Amino acid sequence: MLYQKIPTTRYLIEKPFKGTIVSQSAKSTDLFSPFSIGAFTLRNRIGLAPMTRMSSKKDSIPREDVLEFLVRRAENDVALITTEAVVSDYESAQGYPGQARVTTQRQIDAWRGVTDRIRAAGAVSILQIFHCGRVAWNEVNPAGRCIAPSAIRPEQPNPLTGQPYPLPDAMSEFDIAHVINGFVETVKGGVAAGFDGIEIHGAHGYLINTFLSAYSNQRTDAYGGSSKNRFRFAREVIEAVRPHIPADKLLFFRISNWGVVDMQVSLFADAREWQEIIGYLDALPIDGISVSTYRFSDEAFGSGRNMAQLTRERTRKPLLICGQIHDRASAEAALADADIVLSGKSLLLNPHWVADLRAGKEMPAFSSEAANIAYTEAPLP
Ligand SMILES: Cc1cc2nc3c(=O)[nH]c(=O)nc-3n(C[C@H](O)[C@H](O)[C@H](O)COP(=O)(O)O)c2cc1C
Repeated sequence: MLYQKIPTTRYLIEKPFKGTIVSQSAKSTDLFSPFSIGAFTLRNRIGLAPMTRMSSKKDSIPREDVLEFLVRRAENDVALITTEAVVSDYESAQGYPGQARVTTQRQIDAWRGVTDRIRAAGAVSILQIFHCGRVAWNEVNPAGRCIAPSAIRPEQPNPLTGQPYPLPDAMSEFDIAHVINGFVETVKGGVAAGFDGIEIHGAHGYLINTFLSAYSNQRTDAYGGSSKNRFRFAREVIEAVRPHIPADKLLFFRISNWGVVDMQVSLFADAREWQEIIGYLDALPIDGISVSTYRFSDEAFGSGRNMAQLTRERTRKPLLICGQIHDRASAEAALADADIVLSGKSLLLNPHWVADLRAGKEMPAFSSEAANIAYTEAPLP
């Protein structure tokens, strides 16, 4: 059974800490202060990070308890709820078994029930949309295609199957247009389902992220070479989807310097290159940048600053930060350089996390192994 193999998935591997813990700046914002973003006012600075649950069956609709989990976090005072990564097309976007979609009427109706209840609970709902790129598992993908900016296979095998990843086809212009269209159609489904915002998944070594990085993008056309060229695909996705998102709804972009495969590789050369990419994002009509780190306090690129600090230097757009934020002290420290703190594992495993933060309760940083439960059929509290 598939789920039994899941625990070795990359999200769940502890990475040894090699960097320096960077001291935080003095700015102090109350975790429980409201935050205005677009037409919304978040009731506090706390959000649920996107977490893939692989629970969907053939209909590509998540299990009811998985949807219920999102609603319950909203009812328990989380201000911003991000969905699992929902796939953007039928040809090559799905990278894991049981991923969800939001394009058929039944899928839209299923998500509509969730967004209504999240809103009724006073929270804002964000749909994350993803294309797996070269982190592909052809057997779970309806059309079995694997595409990437360049025909470069991840060095490590797929930890879920033990098999090498498929060698991707370098994307043709047709593929590029097709994938962008998939993002647009999925955004339309998300809007029809009542989401308050959309997040484009540009992180973790998946398709958009591999375009951004010179490690995985070795194209010689207008989509490769300089950082500006490598950013072109992300820009085209953002520009294509924005007109389909009503002006009073949100568009976020998630980005990281690490990928779920070959994770020893720094995807960007240095702090300058990271800030160039952030600068390109800053110029686009997006409402927030979500920076995914393994640990928010780690020093980035030997710069003496952490990822949020480096990002903040280049943009005033709302900044969301994630990575081992597990108790009040770490949440406040992370908020010193960001506007919203996101939690994955703590909110996965502790439904009362926000109340416990408020109470200043001592809380552990959960291990990745503990988060394996996300991929089982056990309903979460
Ligand atoms: C079970 C699980 C599934 C995840 N799925 C996604 C995903 O679909 N999209 C995404 O951008 N990040 C995903 N992540 C990464 C989290 O959003 C988050 O960045 C990471 O867990 C670090 O935050 P934490 O230390 O608070 O857990 C996942 C993490 C976990 C534990």
